[in-house]
Amino acid sequence: FANGLGLTPQMGWNSWNHFQCDINEAVVRSTADALVAIGLAKAGYTYVNLDDCWADSERTKEVGYMVANPKTFPSGIKALADYVHSKGLKLGIYSSAGTRTCSNRMPGSLGYEERDAKMFASWGVDYLKYDNCYRDGTPETVRFGRMSRALVNSGRPIFYSLCEWGFMEVPKWGGMYGNSWRTTGDINDTWSGMLDNIDLNDAYARYAKPGGWNDPDMLEVGNGGMAYNEYVVHFSLWAIAKAPLVIGCDVTRVSNETLGILSNAEVIAISQDRLGVQGQKVSKYGNDLEVWAGQLSGHRKAVLLLNRGATRSASITAAWPDVGIRRGVAVEARDVWKHETLPGWFTGSLTAVVGPHSCKLFVLTPVPS
Ligand code: GLA
Repeated sequence: FANGLGLTPQMGWNSWNHFQCDINEAVVRSTADALVAIGLAKAGYTYVNLDDCWADSERTKEVGYMVANPKTFPSGIKALADYVHSKGLKLGIYSSAGTRTCSNRMPGSLGYEERDAKMFASWGVDYLKYDNCYRDGTPETVRFGRMSRALVNSGRPIFYSLCEWGFMEVPKWGGMYGNSWRTTGDINDTWSGMLDNIDLNDAYARYAKPGGWNDPDMLEVGNGGMAYNEYVVHFSLWAIAKAPLVIGCDVTRVSNETLGILSNAEVIAISQDRLGVQGQKVSKYGNDLEVWAGQLSGHRKAVLLLNRGATRSASITAAWPDVGIRRGVAVEARDVWKHETLPGWFTGSLTAVVGPHSCKLFVLTPVPS
């Protein structure tokens, strides 16, 4: 989908995971303020995205336009976009490829694709998340394709995020129409729910590339359902798998721990590496111990050692043939959570002890021989 956007996985914030339908223009403005004030904007989180429930429950009677909910967004979306733009950020909006959105509180865009896309563009919208509720019998390829063409015709570059929950083997066609596509159902803010989503997403690694990404759903980091070390795993997996980094917590009340995870520049650099190769699970020891690896620019590798077990620390080995490093090559290993380079060089493999429900994430750089 050549709109020139999404050359690296999108980064931003979305209202759904924390606020659900309880959103209004004050929440969005203070979110934009907070993203700038606490350094997340600088770290790369650019999109401020509305999810469901921003619009009035029906289209206007005469012309059939979708309008902002007058109670919660009294200034309208254009004014909100202007505000978000004035902060150096971009505004995202939400609709559905059906007659209603999933909350059933607002209309969807089915049959109104051209009209809505033009309206979004005229408001200065930069991103559309397009959901899959209240559909007719038309296949996803057709309904999501119509909005894709409408966005191109709108005259404004608009990032297009398909939210079809992995239907119709979307990774095989999503890249023709959009910049990212959901490979899973909705994420749960739990250890097992988070892992379920990234495991499903892993099967489609080969379809990700600059301009189009697999989307295992938005981040739950900071929403309270997981422990600190589990959120570190969540963020590390999303980064190595080139998943969208869309924050789902309330950034106006973020803890230092959460902020430390979300703004780790070395982890973000793995996500945003210009090669855009999705890292994959490359080996498994028993039920609990895994190695994930992905190619980075400059002949480097990202390597993640994951202990899914709940009780014991374990030693995990990334062997060169598994992570795709040639036999005999020596590397330097950078621990991107500790921000330290391990002493010495490694040849053949790298082994580390990993705590329960924890991971270690390394960048391996070949040493000139
Ligand atoms: C669906 C989507 C979610 C969210 C809700 C809103 O469930 O998958 O991400 O947008 O709808 O109602």
